[in-house]
Amino acid sequence: MKKNRQRSPQAKNFRLVLNLSLIAIALMAAMPFIGEVGSASTQATTTLGKWVGFLGAFHPLILHLPIGVVLLVLVMELAALFSRGRYQANTLLPLAFASISAVFASIFGYLLYLTGDCAGMLIEDHKRDGIIFTIVLIVTFLIKYRIELNKNNRWLPPVYVIGLITTTLTLISTGHHGGEITHGDPMDKAPWKAGSSTNAPQRTRHHGNDGQPSVDATPTYDPIVYTDIIAPILVEKCNKCHGDNKQKGGLRMDSYAALIRGGDYEECLVPGDIEKSTMISFLHLPLDDDLRMPPEGKPQLTEDEITILTWWVKEDAPEFKKLSEIPQTPEVEKALKSLQ
Ligand code: HEC
Repeated sequence: MKKNRQRSPQAKNFRLVLNLSLIAIALMAAMPFIGEVGSASTQATTTLGKWVGFLGAFHPLILHLPIGVVLLVLVMELAALFSRGRYQANTLLPLAFASISAVFASIFGYLLYLTGDCAGMLIEDHKRDGIIFTIVLIVTFLIKYRIELNKNNRWLPPVYVIGLITTTLTLISTGHHGGEITHGDPMDKAPWKAGSSTNAPQRTRHHGNDGQPSVDATPTYDPIVYTDIIAPILVEKCNKCHGDNKQKGGLRMDSYAALIRGGDYEECLVPGDIEKSTMISFLHLPLDDDLRMPPEGKPQLTEDEITILTWWVKEDAPEFKKLSEIPQTPEVEKALKSLQ
């Protein structure tokens, strides 16, 4: 048996493949300790920073390669299982391809992470799962390689099965967290959850049946302007990029304190000053301006919403005042009514 192994080219290459795999695993494990979040943002000025941002943008493209190929491997192995050996699944090359593309997807994903555009718990989970997935996948590939070299080995095939299952589970977890970051939790959109909203910490519902925060100017119901009127507008039009999952420009808009804190470069809310408050002035920039908010192609604010936000900032942007405690012009009253 030993003689045999030395002669086969696959056996000769195993050493090399093993060493390369170990280097890749070491790189994956070391990755979270290299670089610093935010060291490369869209505003990066250094050449390195610009490249990091540029390459990171390819993560969403590359990540689909390992997903597709790992699923193919599963289909092949299941076909082999159900055909009781009549179909022999040669999954070694697909596993090699999946491993290599997963390493690249992880590296590019990490570059994207370094831009700091996405932060929060979701991204940390996604990063951790992605790294574990890649390492488990490489180990599973190595086990498959050993099986190919020594088909008589009894204990390797069950280890391979465990490896494949673990790979699939970590793949699902990684993909789920990744999807949540870009598209929100798909379960929020489930038909049986009608009226449920995306995770919106500020959204308070007073009239529960339609799920929409409502504005009611009748004396029986006096809403807190920030919580019940302003925050829901921001949740709908701004928080996708300035909330829990993403902080474009380093800015969060999902709490009053965060509005006051502002972003990396701009003050977002300066109570009483609609010129300095970029959350107002950016709304009026031309559509093709980089700083136009919401950016071109994204759902825009209505005239009424702009009127209300501007009025609130001008009136010193109170956090706790009720509607009846802030003076309104007829124009604002009309906007508030039509927002219902
Ligand atoms: C589709 C994503 C997206 C949406 C939606 C969005 N923004 Fe932005 N926002 C960005 C990006 C990207 C930047 C960084 C732009 C840059 O610096 O070139 C940014 C930057 C900002 C900044 C400057 C932060 C800083 O310090 O650099 C403010 C203020 C801002 N946005 C306000 C808003 C407001 C108000 C809304 C809702 C009406 C909104 N944004 C909606 C993507 C978005």
